[in-house]
Amino acid sequence: MSPDYRVIIGDSRRMSEVTDESVHLTVTSPPYPMVSIWDDSFAEASAPSYHDMHEYLNETWREVRRALIPGGIACINIGDATRTSNGVFHLYPNHSRIIENFEKLGFVTLPYVLWKKPTNRPHYKGKGAFLGSGFLPPNAYVTLDMEYILIFRKGAPRSFPPKDPRRYESKFTKKERDEWFSQVWKVPGVRQDMEGLERRVAAFPEEIPRRLIRMFSILGDVVLDPFLGSGTTLKLAMDLDRKFVGYEKLPQLADVIRRRAESNHRQVEFLEQRPVIKELVG
Ligand SMILES: C[S@@+](CC[C@H](N)C(=O)[O-])C[C@H]1O[C@@H](n2cnc3c(N)ncnc32)[C@H](O)[C@@H]1O
Repeated sequence: MSPDYRVIIGDSRRMSEVTDESVHLTVTSPPYPMVSIWDDSFAEASAPSYHDMHEYLNETWREVRRALIPGGIACINIGDATRTSNGVFHLYPNHSRIIENFEKLGFVTLPYVLWKKPTNRPHYKGKGAFLGSGFLPPNAYVTLDMEYILIFRKGAPRSFPPKDPRRYESKFTKKERDEWFSQVWKVPGVRQDMEGLERRVAAFPEEIPRRLIRMFSILGDVVLDPFLGSGTTLKLAMDLDRKFVGYEKLPQLADVIRRRAESNHRQVEFLEQRPVIKELVG
């Protein structure tokens, strides 16, 4: 029997440790294509293009489809990107590419959430929003201050026996329903004031996986995060009495994840996967 909490230090493009149709919900935030802090994640292909980066993520999305039960749900947190190459400005709408790719895999796309990060700053990271023109029209750009939480279902909705007690024990309140099932969420981002690796991870705030796990799974379900980072989804799966399996490619993050899980005093099995499979890329 599998332990309730498993972390695999390895590559989620091959999740051989997860059996077919054994996961009820995926909650994850992948590296964002064309956002420079994530370039290293995609660096196995030399000078990877926007297309290559999404092909890299597709390997994992295919595995997510295999691992989910029929009616299982995948929630993907992603932001769009802007980049100037050779003097040419370009918007990279990662959210629409991921929707297209999930549709190609046969998922049903459900209405998504716009995660608005409240900010007092008039422009993004102090640059980019008002490029070159200050208060003068027409050459300023709109700030990318929204992220997306895309929601997909594998086939038809899950069915349950009548009055399933685990489902009834998992119910949300009217206030929670009204807030969570509206399209814009105003949730402050996490202060990225950690050092080194922990800072690099770009953790999402606990409120995001907390809501998604409560909305789209029931007590005792198995939650998967194929891009675990600092382990936020693992922590919330523990808090909310769900089981968990997750993958993180960087071995240096194992201790960060371990520390995150320790607060719950639950047993987590850490496995080392075989080395990254290079021939998958390029
Ligand atoms: C945006 S971060 C996830 C942050 C996470 N939601 C948190 O709250 O800490 C993406 C993570 O995916 C990892 N990663 C990238 N490619 C991977 C792969 N193929 N398999 C497993 N992990 C991968 C990166 O090392 C990084 O830690």
